[in-house]
Amino acid sequence: MSLEKFNWYAAIMRSIELNKSDPHYRFVQLATVTREGEPRNRTMVFRGFHPSDQSILLCTDRLSAKIKELSMGASVELCWYFTASREQYRLRGPVEMMDDPSERQAFWLKLSKETRAQFFWPPPLEEVQHEQSVSLSSISLNDQKPPQRFLLFKIKPRRVDYLLLNATHRRIISVVDDQGWTSRAVNP
Ligand SMILES: Cc1cc2nc3c(=O)[nH]c(=O)nc-3n(C[C@H](O)[C@H](O)[C@H](O)COP(=O)(O)O)c2cc1C
Repeated sequence: MSLEKFNWYAAIMRSIELNKSDPHYRFVQLATVTREGEPRNRTMVFRGFHPSDQSILLCTDRLSAKIKELSMGASVELCWYFTASREQYRLRGPVEMMDDPSERQAFWLKLSKETRAQFFWPPPLEEVQHEQSVSLSSISLNDQKPPQRFLLFKIKPRRVDYLLLNATHRRIISVVDDQGWTSRAVNP
């Protein structure tokens, strides 16, 4: 792909294609910053691209600690490594909450039962109680409506740092402004 034609979204779609035989390709690292300026980082599952604006969809528990760092517009960075093709993408951009009830509902129904069950588990970070069970059998999934705890959000990249560490080493930084996306090749 020539630099003039480099398009981070097309590049990621190609990386997904090259890596899809290993389901681990869906694991991304989400980095946030606390109000005190401390870093936080955790693994999340890539839930697809939003069909209208190529932003990256993620979901989490509203009771989790990261919520304090995920206010609307907060800047975050995703780090996404594709093992087979040895490519890394670092995608930086603001968080946007997805509050539309029909969008939430449609997304909720696409999740596996196991994933949905996690939103009924005892609250994260509370001390484990012996009598508590977090087994799937204790959770009713009859309710097809997403619970309040289910938080769907997206990250709209404004800067993408692409690194290929194959036989060829290549690094391309793409940024967007009012004029659109521009990319430049830099030393890795
Ligand atoms: C493979 C893997 C996938 C995960 N996917 C998610 C996810 O999609 N959403 C999520 O909130 N947490 C996910 N987690 C758990 C997070 O890494 C983290 O432990 C949890 O969200 C609590 O993070 P926090 O304390 O920073 O809020 C995943 C963990 C692993 C190991």
